[in-house]
Amino acid sequence: MTQNDKDVFARRGFLKGSAAIAGATAVGTLLPSAALAQQAKLKVGLMLPYTGTFAQLGVAITNGFKLAVDERGGKLGGREIEFVTVDDESNPAKAPENVNKLVQRDKVDVVIGTVHSGVVMGMAKVLKESGTLWINPNGGAGAMTGAMCAPNFFRTSFSNWQTTHALGKVLKAKGHKTAVFITWKYAAGEEMMEGFKEGFEKEGGKLVKELYTPFPQVEFQALLTEIASIKPDAVVAFFAGGGAAKFLKDYQAAGLKGKIPLYGSGFLTDGVLDAVGDAAEGVETTLHYADGLDTKKDKAFRLAYAKTFKLQPDVYAVQGYDAGQLLAAGLEAVKGNVADKAGVIKAMEAAKIDSPRGQWTLSKAHNPVQDMYLRKVVGKENKTMGVAWKALADPARGCKM
Ligand code: PHB
Repeated sequence: MTQNDKDVFARRGFLKGSAAIAGATAVGTLLPSAALAQQAKLKVGLMLPYTGTFAQLGVAITNGFKLAVDERGGKLGGREIEFVTVDDESNPAKAPENVNKLVQRDKVDVVIGTVHSGVVMGMAKVLKESGTLWINPNGGAGAMTGAMCAPNFFRTSFSNWQTTHALGKVLKAKGHKTAVFITWKYAAGEEMMEGFKEGFEKEGGKLVKELYTPFPQVEFQALLTEIASIKPDAVVAFFAGGGAAKFLKDYQAAGLKGKIPLYGSGFLTDGVLDAVGDAAEGVETTLHYADGLDTKKDKAFRLAYAKTFKLQPDVYAVQGYDAGQLLAAGLEAVKGNVADKAGVIKAMEAAKIDSPRGQWTLSKAHNPVQDMYLRKVVGKENKTMGVAWKALADPARGCKM
């Protein structure tokens, strides 16, 4: 905590104390507590990256969440919403301090966050202890819905493993026998590599090399030279946001595009196509969302998102929107009484989410069970080529719940 943060923390704590006393008097004398609960705004803490390589992802998630709230007249379970926002900078070292700003200082009812798997792990430790309701709209760290799983932890996105597992079948169908995996050296990259390796080896393929660069570095030259000398049948990559755009352009500039086919988890090509010219053309990826799904729900979502934000939605916007939908399902069941945590959790566990990606439900470990699409970049679209794996569930290794 900086000194400035500490000062703010202390001042707010003092004000909160006097406000709490005034509130207690009101409860005792004027209003039944249920009525007071109906009046109070629901405090939603958004902990997301608003700066750095994942900044755009944080904005898309925020937009998607707010769209789900807007569609319900600005309320969830009848409660108006007060947003509190923390920029987590995708910095794992600051994660405990940042999430504690929301939990201890602001006393939020629910935490929505975040993008980066390392930050997710920092949040998990704090939120397991505090028991605060938590909906994660992106970061795929396996442990959150694996060894660290907990009744108050929910994810509306994916596990890292899920996003690359179906690629094994895809590469096999193309006749590729060897592959190189390239990514950032941190939990998301390593787990996506594992998910791919497991799926590819099951199909008889061989992962001949894992190549890593530290997060969030984007100097790919030496690694691309190494790929050119290995000459695998295929390259599989995970990068996202600004890093993905840079990688796609460098892959083309290195002369590898058209020589060694490039695949990836869909983050490689989602939300970056406007920035990369034709560098991504033809790249095939797997992900739980795609362009051109052509369902009623997806069309309505895209139209509303484009109208509200003057932007095209992407997978991150969908995940944020579904976080809003999941929370709505929980709060509606208890008529906004978030203090009935068991009631909220039970309703969220049973929810069938009518998502732009297609309908999904939660696994026992609270991670989406969902279809994985095969997508191909055609022009400015991640065009759907069909379902690569129907209703794929994360194995939730180590989760006892
Ligand atoms: C992650 O760190 O879990 C992560 C980040 C960005 C993505 C996907 C996963 O696009």
